[in-house]
Amino acid sequence: MKIGIIGTGRLGSALGKIWAEKGHMIMFGSRDPQKAKKLANSIGSNASGGTYEEAAKFGDVIILAVPWSGAKESIKTAGNLDSKIIVDSTTTAAPHLGGPLIGRTPSAAEKVAKWAVGAKVIKAVHTIGVESLNNLQFGSQKANLFICGDNLEAKSIVRTLGEDIGFEVIDAGPLTNARLTEPLAMLWIELAYKQGMGTDIAFKLLRRRKAK
Ligand SMILES: NC(=O)c1ccc[n+]([C@@H]2O[C@H](COP(=O)([O-])OP(=O)(O)OC[C@H]3O[C@@H](n4cnc5c(N)ncnc54)[C@H](OP(=O)(O)O)[C@@H]3O)[C@@H](O)[C@H]2O)c1
Repeated sequence: MKIGIIGTGRLGSALGKIWAEKGHMIMFGSRDPQKAKKLANSIGSNASGGTYEEAAKFGDVIILAVPWSGAKESIKTAGNLDSKIIVDSTTTAAPHLGGPLIGRTPSAAEKVAKWAVGAKVIKAVHTIGVESLNNLQFGSQKANLFICGDNLEAKSIVRTLGEDIGFEVIDAGPLTNARLTEPLAMLWIELAYKQGMGTDIAFKLLRRRKAK
């Protein structure tokens, strides 16, 4: 899969490195293309770097890995996103672990879908800490990746990418259900940082029967 990553911060660089190691082709996009190229060089031949627009053009799947405050501008800078699958991984926490910057109706993901005209938006990767991505196994349990989106093919592709990392993926329904999963990210932040549980925590849905 060709994956464009918008933002070379902690989440974008960690995801890109893991997927490159799994054999995917990665292009990191940065406001500073030299930074993206340096990151790509540190990863190897499956990775390259450029601008947001170049990364968006390159990827069949685009990961939006920027702060919520920069999301609208980053999407605009990325250019034409028509028909692209966009994974919105943003959390809407204010800087310094503040509360959500926006309400739940609409969700951040629905706003992303409005800004990224023609794109198939999937909300995912927002309810876990980057620290866990290299090992999603918690004892006998795999951490969950909740995905919401309206396009079934796009969801299936994101499911596979999530499984490649080691998640057990839960289809949480249409994109409007990001209104339900985005607050989970706020809960994760609260528990990890403010309640002192640390970042080595993840959500798990327990069920008695295997899903259909
Ligand atoms: N870190 C986690 O554990 C984690 C987990 C789940 C979700 N998330 C979410 O994923 C997103 C990225 O998180 P992160 O931890 O990777 O953040 P980060 O380390 O601060 O990196 C964010 C990147 O976004 C880009 N960016 C674009 N517009 C920006 C702006 N106005 N101000 C600052 N940076 C801007 C920058 O990349 P360039 O300089 O390359 O353009 C920057 O390196 C956030 O929405 C966060 O809430 C993070």
